[in-house]
Formats: sequence, C-alpha cells, structure tokens
Amino acid sequence: MKQKIIVTGGCGYIGSHTVIELITHQFEVVILDDLSNSNIKTLDRIEKITGVRPIFEEIDLKDTEKTKAAFSKHADAVAVIHFAAYKAVAESVQNPVMYYKNNFFSLLNTLEAQLQEGIHNFIFSSSATVYGNPKTLPITEENEVQRPFSPYGNTKKIAEEILEDIVKANTGFSSISLRYFNPIGAHTSGDLGELPNGIPNNLMPYITQTAAGIRKELQVFGDDYDTKDGTAIRDYIHVVDLADAHVKAVKRLIHKEQEQALEIFNLGTGNGYTVLEVIQSFEKITEKPLNYRIVGRRAGDVPALYASTKMAKEKLGWETTLGIDDMISTSWKWEENLKNE
Ligand code: WQD
Repeated sequence: MKQKIIVTGGCGYIGSHTVIELITHQFEVVILDDLSNSNIKTLDRIEKITGVRPIFEEIDLKDTEKTKAAFSKHADAVAVIHFAAYKAVAESVQNPVMYYKNNFFSLLNTLEAQLQEGIHNFIFSSSATVYGNPKTLPITEENEVQRPFSPYGNTKKIAEEILEDIVKANTGFSSISLRYFNPIGAHTSGDLGELPNGIPNNLMPYITQTAAGIRKELQVFGDDYDTKDGTAIRDYIHVVDLADAHVKAVKRLIHKEQEQALEIFNLGTGNGYTVLEVIQSFEKITEKPLNYRIVGRRAGDVPALYASTKMAKEKLGWETTLGIDDMISTSWKWEENLKNE
C-alpha cells in the first residue's frame, strides 16, 4: 500500500515539483488546489513526467466546510504538505487584508481539518524572509527572526508561531517548517516550471522573459550595496533540489525521527550570487546578451542573504546537487518551451 500525502497548492511552482518527487518515491498524492494562481494543465505535465496522474480536488481552502469534506475523504493520508498561499511581495504590500485572509484562513482550515481526521504530520512552506536583514551570515536556524518587511513575509513568520502553539497543544502532532531561500529553475525535462502570472516580480522569470523578448529590459535594483560588485546577494536554489527536501522531511515525520515537535530547516545551497553574477551566468549559458539597466534599490530588499546548510544536511540528510548553471539552463529551457504552448 502506498502512503498517501495531501499536497495543498500542488499545482503551483514548488508544489508541482514536489508532487513529482513524491510520486517518484512511491507516495500516493492528493492535490488540493483552487487554481487561483496555477493551471489545471499542470496535472498533464506531472502525468507526462511520472506516468502517474495525482488525485486532484479543486477546492478553495478558505472554505472551512469544503476543506473538512476533502480531508474526511482522504482521512487515510499520513501527512500534509501545505504550499497553498499567495506569495507576491509587492501585491501583499498593496493589499494586506487579501494576503492575511487567504494565507491564514487556508492554513487554519487545513490544520483544523487534519487534526479532526487525526492526520498528525504537517510540513509548512516558509521563507528566509523571516530573517529580515540578518546580522550575521551565513544564516543559521538560530538567527534571530525579525518582523518581515511585507505582509506576505509576515504571514510566514506568524504561521510558524501558530505552529509552535499547535504542536504544544496537540500531543503527537509534528511539524517541519522549511525556510526557502530563492527557488528558481525548472524540471530538467523542460515540461514543468514556473508559470508567471502577469509581470514577474522575481529575478529569474524576469531575466528569461527579457531574453525571450516578452519584457523590454531587466532593471537591476541597486548597485550600491556593500558586496563585491555592488548588487545584492541571494542564495538561489534549484526547485528540484527543494522538492527533494520535502520528501526527506515527509519521511522524517512519518518515521518519527524528529527531535522536536516543530523543527525548522533552512533550504538553500549555502552559496550567494550577486544579481550581476546571475546575469553573467545567464549570458554565458544561453549565449544571449541580456538587455539590463541599473536603477535604484527596491524597497524592502536586503543586501545579502545566504543559508547555512549544516542543519538540513545533518538532520534531513539533504544536500543540493544542482548548481547555478543548472538553475539557469532549466529556467531557459522552460521559457523556450512556453512559447510553444
Ligand atoms: C532577487 C534579487 C532583487 C527582480 C522574494 C521574496 C521571498 C521569496 C522569494 C517568494 C534581489 C533583484 C529582482 C528584478 C532585480 N518568496 N532583482 N530586478 O526579493 O530575494 O525574494 O522571492 O515567494 O520571500 O521576498 O527575490 O527574485 O525578487 O530578487 O534586480 O527585476 O534580484 O533586488 O536582489 P527576493 P527576487
């Protein structure tokens, strides 16, 4: 019998790559997704890559009764991975109510429904944004958590606090919160990747869309940071490596290997790249010159973020295998494939 995992937001960018890794590791997957920022065609793509079509329930997790019904139908699940959330930083600054409502209603309905069904393992999709502007680098899980700049980021910080309370109150309930650094890249097949909705906010989709002629030029936000070339440093991580960490985290929970009821892990490579280094690598790998221009800093950006990977390596037994060149080449392959859609 395959073990069943409920994946909320499983049609989204990180969710869909995780579904592929779960299927590859012989789990049965149930996706709960309202398709508000994803596409039903993702199910075809998952099936093409894995040969298996995951079970799919189209459901808005803000709806308490429908969420309970879906969990009662899949009460035999052994764990939940919760990706479903809004994630656009600038949009959250414009519309905090929408962000707090969506991200917390879905989180709380999911937790309530799974507790009711006795599903005791929960993996949360968190973010390095909870570290704010870190005082020391690389960032370990012990680094101080700060109030994030954006309502989006704050939903991640508060969600982790909610989880602290829930594991205390519910004996046997275990959770792992995974703090992602900067996920980029696409499936190596070229059949699955990020489906940007409107004008991208993030660097990599903006780069590939500029190179593809969809955007006129990339704006590089600030070259006066205290870094080697003045542009900001981030820890970019391949989405397939990131997905693999979720499988490791699921197994850790199922096999009851966790040392605390709520564990937190950074997911990054430990390597920081500046914006200009990413652009140069892109130009080298694709042999396409990129039209870019340096402009002022973007509000809320911090100079440098990169992870300490020690804890994830020691406790999850997880290490990244794909480097910046793989991240760029798969992102570009996906962008080129999108043209043929
Ligand atoms: C990376 C670097 C920009 C766009 C955000 C969220 C975080 C996480 C990932 C999302 C920065 C620069 C970017 C552009 C640029 N969660 N840049 N021109 O800001 O590190 O993290 O996305 O779901 O919570 O905050 O990622 O890709 O936007 O930016 O120069 O057009 O690229 O200034 O230095 P960020 P990013």
